Amino acid sequence: MKRRRQPPRRDARESDARLGAGAELDVTVERILPGGVGLAHAHGQTVFVSLAAPGDFVRVRVETVRSRLAFASITEVLTPSPVRVAPPCPHFGRCGGCDFQQLAYEAQLAAKVEIIRDCLRRVARVEPPDEIHITPSPNEWHYRSRARWQHDPLRKHLGYFERGSHRIRDVAECPVASPPVQERLTTLRALLAEDRLPDDVPEFEAIAGDEGVALAPAVAPEDEREQSRVIGGERYRFDAGCFFQINHALLEPLVREGLRDAAGDAALDLYSGVGLFTLPLARRFSRVVAVEGNAAASEYARRNLEDAALTNARVETSAVGNWLARNADALGHIDFVLLDPPRAGAEHECVQSIIRLRPRHVSYVSCDPATLARDLRLLTEGGYRTASVRAFDMFPQTHHVETVVHLDVNNNAKYKS
Ligand SMILES: C[S@@+](CC[C@H](N)C(=O)[O-])C[C@H]1O[C@@H](n2cnc3c(N)ncnc32)[C@H](O)[C@@H]1O
Repeated sequence: MKRRRQPPRRDARESDARLGAGAELDVTVERILPGGVGLAHAHGQTVFVSLAAPGDFVRVRVETVRSRLAFASITEVLTPSPVRVAPPCPHFGRCGGCDFQQLAYEAQLAAKVEIIRDCLRRVARVEPPDEIHITPSPNEWHYRSRARWQHDPLRKHLGYFERGSHRIRDVAECPVASPPVQERLTTLRALLAEDRLPDDVPEFEAIAGDEGVALAPAVAPEDEREQSRVIGGERYRFDAGCFFQINHALLEPLVREGLRDAAGDAALDLYSGVGLFTLPLARRFSRVVAVEGNAAASEYARRNLEDAALTNARVETSAVGNWLARNADALGHIDFVLLDPPRAGAEHECVQSIIRLRPRHVSYVSCDPATLARDLRLLTEGGYRTASVRAFDMFPQTHHVETVVHLDVNNNAKYKS
């Protein structure tokens, strides 16, 4: 990508010819949209520009057109946005991992708040609060305690998928990996160079904790070592086969915000993983039920509760939607529900069951503002009111963002059950 001022390739505003794949034009990027792409307009059409900064004037090439939406990539930055910075990683633009390195960190945070605001307004149909506070990551780089590396034994590549493809980008240094994860990548690459990695393993999952780095599948005895982390005074055990959050420096404030002042008789922790929220919930509620689909993660959650001598919480291994559809009526009164689903959001049966259970308070922890907003719309129609929205920058250098929304029963709403 060059940064020279060139005469305009074509004046996008004067011509009303439809844009097709391969078209080149000069556009101004207006803002960053959910999904992390820049928004521009040309020929009465919407143009999505990848790896853009708001305010950029750029020459783009249209890659594809779908139902009058053009998807374009930058061929030249003609006038850079004041918030554009030089991406430090040599793989930026090709590697599928980071898509925000072109933005100054403050601009990344501002774009994420706008993404949340946009989803709340357009998808959830909820008027967002005037200000959405976002907690920055203490580390803008070297924060990832978890990584998934793709392995191509024929080309001897180990790294990440390229943007929009399943081709593997060979990556020796990853600037968002935490130091122990980077070190494990380096040692794994040394084995690859010596032909000592098994050919039939397409990907490796690494996860760092206090004991080192676990790797699945294991290639050395120490890879199987169980890991642990202390967050907010609770010790959590996990390994590379189950989910644990990637940015450990933000977990204490995230848990604090997820729970706020919740306390009472009964609580549910849905999509509970190894029990990040289950343990603190068990200290505040007399009775807690956690539901998690991954058998290894739910087994760790049971052990984590046992190690903490918390006997008032039980962990169910099941898909949340199915489990609630079958068991919600037998649960009795529930005061508080915390849900923390994967990017796909909560299953429809999960949201419908929460509405039927009608807890006074719901805390929704989400890693995808679009699916969060989709579910919030159903919860709002089901009689809930959004009480607060806060964001946490768990994933610097990418468009991803963690959001915590608290909801209360809306006593004035005429809700659909
Ligand atoms: C974003 S993680 C949150 C885990 C935990 N709350 C934490 O913060 O560590 C989502 C979890 O949901 C689990 N999961 C995904 N789909 C599920 C489903 N349909 N039913 C139950 N659990 C599911 C995953 O295994 C993962 O542990």
